[in-house]
Amino acid sequence: MCGIVAYIGSKPAYPILINGLKRLEYRGYDSAGIALLDKNISTYKRKGKVSDLEAFVEDKNTNGFIGIGHTRWATHGAPNDVNAHPHVSQHGHFVIIHNGIIENYGRLKKRLEDRGYKFQSETDTEVLSNLIEYIYLKGNVSAEIAVRLALTKVIGAYGLVIMCKDEPDKLIAARKGSPLVIGIGKEEYYLASDATPIVEYTKSVIYLNENDIAIIKKDELSLKSLTNEKLTPEIHTLDLDVDEIEKGGYEHYMLKEIFEQPRSILDTFRGRVVPDMSAIHLGGLLEVLPRLKEAKRIIIIGCGTSWHAGLVGEYLLEDLARIPVEVEYASEFRYRNPIINKDDVIIAISQSGETADTLAAIQLAKENGAMVLGICNVVGSSIPRLTDGGVYTHAGPEIGVASTKAFTAQVTVLTMMAILLGRERNIISDENYKKLILELVSIPEKIEKILTYSAVFEKIAALYKNANNFLYLGRGYFFPVALEGALKLKEISYIHAEGYPAAEMKHGPIALIDEKMPIVVIAAKDKSYEKVVSNIQEVKARKGIVIAIVTEGDTIIKEMADHVLEIPYTHEALGPLLAVIPLQLLSYYIAVMRGCNVDQPRNLAKSVTVE
Ligand code: G6P
Repeated sequence: MCGIVAYIGSKPAYPILINGLKRLEYRGYDSAGIALLDKNISTYKRKGKVSDLEAFVEDKNTNGFIGIGHTRWATHGAPNDVNAHPHVSQHGHFVIIHNGIIENYGRLKKRLEDRGYKFQSETDTEVLSNLIEYIYLKGNVSAEIAVRLALTKVIGAYGLVIMCKDEPDKLIAARKGSPLVIGIGKEEYYLASDATPIVEYTKSVIYLNENDIAIIKKDELSLKSLTNEKLTPEIHTLDLDVDEIEKGGYEHYMLKEIFEQPRSILDTFRGRVVPDMSAIHLGGLLEVLPRLKEAKRIIIIGCGTSWHAGLVGEYLLEDLARIPVEVEYASEFRYRNPIINKDDVIIAISQSGETADTLAAIQLAKENGAMVLGICNVVGSSIPRLTDGGVYTHAGPEIGVASTKAFTAQVTVLTMMAILLGRERNIISDENYKKLILELVSIPEKIEKILTYSAVFEKIAALYKNANNFLYLGRGYFFPVALEGALKLKEISYIHAEGYPAAEMKHGPIALIDEKMPIVVIAAKDKSYEKVVSNIQEVKARKGIVIAIVTEGDTIIKEMADHVLEIPYTHEALGPLLAVIPLQLLSYYIAVMRGCNVDQPRNLAKSVTVE
């Protein structure tokens, strides 16, 4: 949520910043802006996309070897030119970009207004730029000291990069709650909210920790704490390639990511399912396994699609490992005074590893003495660094705002965890253990097969692209998939869609059904198959249009449904990994046909770093 990028070195900064902003645009696309330091500071900002900024800047002076850039997801103030970042302080000494929220900005603003400051924008960030400047001028201190003192007065979250006109040889960066990565080049440094704008220049990076401040000259970096202690930077090597963040010939990132799933699932279990398929080895859980397998209760927390993966996890862990599981929206969990016991284990699921509500829920669980594990995709992000153990999903960078391959990778990890715990707790027999592992290993190939039917999904999409409402129904393992299917459709096509447990349809949604209502029913072979067949009949009796996801060779549903989309047979516990694929493709094609911006749906952002 908001992307920030900065450069200091000997190359022209503008192309680096604009390309970086394009890479980070998935984090927010309400406005974009840059500031370049040449003899003076030039600031250009525009409502809308990075391409609008690029067009605006075309005939302007873009000289300078130091610069900062920002792409915004609006929090304080409407998405317009004035509220766009960077924000310049009243007397022009400082220019700053910010990701996060300054919670006490109202009080700080009032104090600054009392001291003669006037504000141009409605943002919390402008308050911070003026606060830094006020301290700088009043205290006659260096930019570094002014930034440090200002940050001690701030409550909230920030990833910040600051330039000072009077100290043109440096950038100052700080982090609390919002991520910042520094790329180390040869006599140059790159900064960004994540590594995607950096990887094409260098693979050596430093992840700023909470309350770190970095003072960066082109040939020198010094890292300090908010209390001015000198810190030693820890240098990491990025395990990321540029082609992973390109579209690779696909029209959209989302389509690429849907088609990558055989690969991303394989990467997620590769090296964890041992070669003869006889065991699951999850290195990140080794130390915590004794406590995990004795857990009295597992509480899974997450937001959005990650929460849906958590719901699949509930079915898996209760079914295969017989551990009681509760799944909570992170935002609800943290505010409802939850009961957390010391022998509970919390599993936080997050693609980005930065979602503010999930982070806050983890803090709360830790304060209550629970063990917290993470299932995250972005290596080095905040959640894995805060948790007691966990498993990375290895899905690779997910750029499309609507999550696809991260979901299946999360479910893959949860499946491995459930099988492993089921075995450790002697719930699963040796035979079933091997059977489940073999089924898991066959999933990528089965998804490949589903993907070859994409033209069929496209045809169905064309028939129903103008519907106003969709209903998604599923039972058991397929109920969370129904929720995820509905979420995908509403996120990217703006069609109202609801997911429901199939049996609950008769307690409300059935009233909505008429001959115009498409109802997607996940009716693959499992133990509730017969019941779902009855639900389909109930829909047909009300003239609803049934699009059914069925197991290959199903003849019963073919007779009743308007359309069937086939998926290969698998063990029901692995069914979500297959059943979600047609739903992702259906949403994708409908959104494209409706002319929607699939990768950057309106009002959404990928990494939600505000609460
Ligand atoms: C946003 C994204 C969703 C994502 C959710 C949780 O709403 O648009 O795709 O599922 O955040 O994000 P996380 O990174 O924690 O999985």
